[in-house]
Amino acid sequence: MTTTPEQAQFDALIAADGRIEPRDWMPEAYRKTLVRQISQHAHSEIIGMQPEANWISRAPSLKRKAILMAKVQDEAGHGLYLYSAAQTLGTPRDEMTEALIAGKAKYSSIFNYPTPTWADMGAIGWLVDGAAICNQVPLCRASYGPYGRAMVRICKEESFHQRQGFEILLTLMQGTDEQRRMAQDAVDRWYWPALQMFGPPDDQSPNSAQSMAWNIKRFTNDELRQRFVGMLVPQAEVLGVTLPDPKLRWNDETQQYDMSEIDWTEFFEVLAGRGPMNAERLRRRREAHEDGAWVREAAAEYARKRAQITEQAA
Ligand SMILES: [Fe+2]
Ligand SMILES: [Fe+2]
Repeated sequence: MTTTPEQAQFDALIAADGRIEPRDWMPEAYRKTLVRQISQHAHSEIIGMQPEANWISRAPSLKRKAILMAKVQDEAGHGLYLYSAAQTLGTPRDEMTEALIAGKAKYSSIFNYPTPTWADMGAIGWLVDGAAICNQVPLCRASYGPYGRAMVRICKEESFHQRQGFEILLTLMQGTDEQRRMAQDAVDRWYWPALQMFGPPDDQSPNSAQSMAWNIKRFTNDELRQRFVGMLVPQAEVLGVTLPDPKLRWNDETQQYDMSEIDWTEFFEVLAGRGPMNAERLRRRREAHEDGAWVREAAAEYARKRAQITEQAA
């Protein structure tokens, strides 16, 4: 097979750790991988608003309510930057939305778990946004320009999300026995799903090698998971919570944390749509989309009239 000049230029840019921009030629498989990854990421941000929105009206104080609202709004913003980044690859936004509400698109499984207590707001910020940071900081250097640039701002906001979650848990852990139990229970429920956010073990992650060769991914799933656990252990000590893994300990020989086997059966069940909240999340997303139809119609009509005025003036 001969290499075309475009392919050679693309390869050279990747080899030099350069950036691919929307106007540049790129292999179809690279484009497809990015559309899949960025749109799934966008969907996750948007669906991810739901578990926490559940507590906005019941936040324990005005201050907590304001913080939580800001956090959930940030997630909406993340979804929008990411849909825009995916659109630069030629996939219309409508198409991505349609795939999501039809139940054909994937999003992070973590958002298919319920949020029964206020402590869940703490555990989500600390563990889910914490895992998101570990995943996303290396994506700031992703080879596709619009994706990497969107991630820079997203990561700054994720740091705030993680801190606010940590602070909710810290406050609960300094409270009554009941509050401490509530915090520990939330950590117990979110810990394993958060570890699953990094994806299957390296030997079962078929697309990883190609994504790393293209400089989209910089570290493997297991490397990122280890890094995350390494970040959690000292923070759990400060909080006074127990990470729910009896086998978790530092191994001097491997220079890694030993941990229990992750239950991947549960992960794949939730991914296949059989998690506790999958149907509810999609139902709510579909309903919000339908409720917003008049806004889209009004915006399209406004754009049509503006174009008409500009045309007449020309
Ligand atoms: Fe986010
Ligand atoms: Fe976040």
